[in-house]
Amino acid sequence: MKILALNSSPRKARGGTSILLNTFLEGAKEAGAKIDLLYVYDLEIKPCQGCFLCWVKTPGVCVQKDDMEDLLAKWQKADVLVLATPVFVDGMTSTMKAVLDRSIPLVQPFFEIRDDHCRHPPLHARKPIKVVLVSVSGFTELDNFDPLLYHVKGFCKNLNGEFAGAILRPLGAQLEGFKRIGLPVEDIFDAIKQAGKELVQMGMISSKTQKTISREIVPREEYVKRLNASFQQQIDANK
Ligand SMILES: Cc1cc2nc3c(=O)[nH]c(=O)nc-3n(C[C@H](O)[C@H](O)[C@H](O)COP(=O)(O)O)c2cc1C
Repeated sequence: MKILALNSSPRKARGGTSILLNTFLEGAKEAGAKIDLLYVYDLEIKPCQGCFLCWVKTPGVCVQKDDMEDLLAKWQKADVLVLATPVFVDGMTSTMKAVLDRSIPLVQPFFEIRDDHCRHPPLHARKPIKVVLVSVSGFTELDNFDPLLYHVKGFCKNLNGEFAGAILRPLGAQLEGFKRIGLPVEDIFDAIKQAGKELVQMGMISSKTQKTISREIVPREEYVKRLNASFQQQIDANK
């Protein structure tokens, strides 16, 4: 199984997105997957110009010459696309959105009715690509991922992709910190790794594993108190 993983956190390897993604990919690698990991923030990916020339003049090829060309070549060879993004203003990062916008050369301009819905046929016949979402949020509630999840599932349908599961971790950037202060989070790390194995072995991530990954770690009121104290300290230190 070939996995193309896109990490769009601007904090790249230092962020919470990376902790989740790398643990997940470790599990997938142990189960035999081949991984290609790209940090989207390091790539030059211009916004889509909406010219549709990739549909009507140069099918499959965008007029803009940047790193998207190479990314699309990798995408076409992959069995799985992992979209890793922190929640930014209730959605994905702008860099990840630019990648998805620039994926329209992979479909044809024509409409077809699939599952009682207008869709574009793929440009090249291929097995649907499996899509996994990996995300962290700053707020504590799991519903902070709802708009993003809805968006990624919609994208899968339009792209003839197959949604294979989501690794969603509120306070994901705090996971290592929670571990350091002795909170029991080992089961969460194990479940993230397990998710990678399940993807390779079963082609999807079980709902039991997804639930463990997203479980509550600290009661919300307690976390809010700690967080506010920490921000106040930082503000005071900068005075
Ligand atoms: C511009 C911006 C917007 C954000 N918007 C949200 C949001 O709408 N909901 C949320 O729960 N967290 C939000 N966050 C918090 C991030 O999801 C959180 O800090 C996350 O850990 C960042 O990922 P990283 O650790 O990989 O950098 C936002 C952070 C930034 C910088």
